[in-house]
Amino acid sequence: MIMPEKNEANRKLDLTAAVEEGPYYKFGSPERKAIAGPGTYGSKLILEGRVLDTNGQPVPGAWLDFWHADGHGSYDNEDYNLRGHQYTDEDGRYSLETLRPGDYMMRSPHLHVKVRANEKSPILTTQLFFPGESKNTTDPLFEKLTVVDLKDTAQGQKATFDFVVERY
Ligand SMILES: [Fe+2]
Repeated sequence: MIMPEKNEANRKLDLTAAVEEGPYYKFGSPERKAIAGPGTYGSKLILEGRVLDTNGQPVPGAWLDFWHADGHGSYDNEDYNLRGHQYTDEDGRYSLETLRPGDYMMRSPHLHVKVRANEKSPILTTQLFFPGESKNTTDPLFEKLTVVDLKDTAQGQKATFDFVVERY
């Protein structure tokens, strides 16, 4: 017998907060972990983390599709620069090599991403933000629950964020 209330109570982690897709998503991004083409403006950024289900279990083979603006706040809408998808490894880990996005108009710097545990599961669409950005206080889409942890390393800035998604 299925007891949804009980299953709900057994959840250990809240789903990652969704943030709207925005106007610049493009289907068909290439599968790759390094998404910045040569000469793209912006400082180096590594983003790493895991995809977990609501029980806290890592999700291997989860799909992540990233897209974002360059350091000037411009999107490549003609081609696929700063766009790419990848799948988590056997430990549910992903790693993205890219650049710090710039702000534009009302928007604080952010990375767009879609995440899905598997083909039967719903897609989570959200945006990741950066700590300490002045526009975080005024961007109407800013979400404090999706701010990355950020640190400086010898290899450049490293951000970390774990996604929690529905897994069917
Ligand atoms: Fe955006």
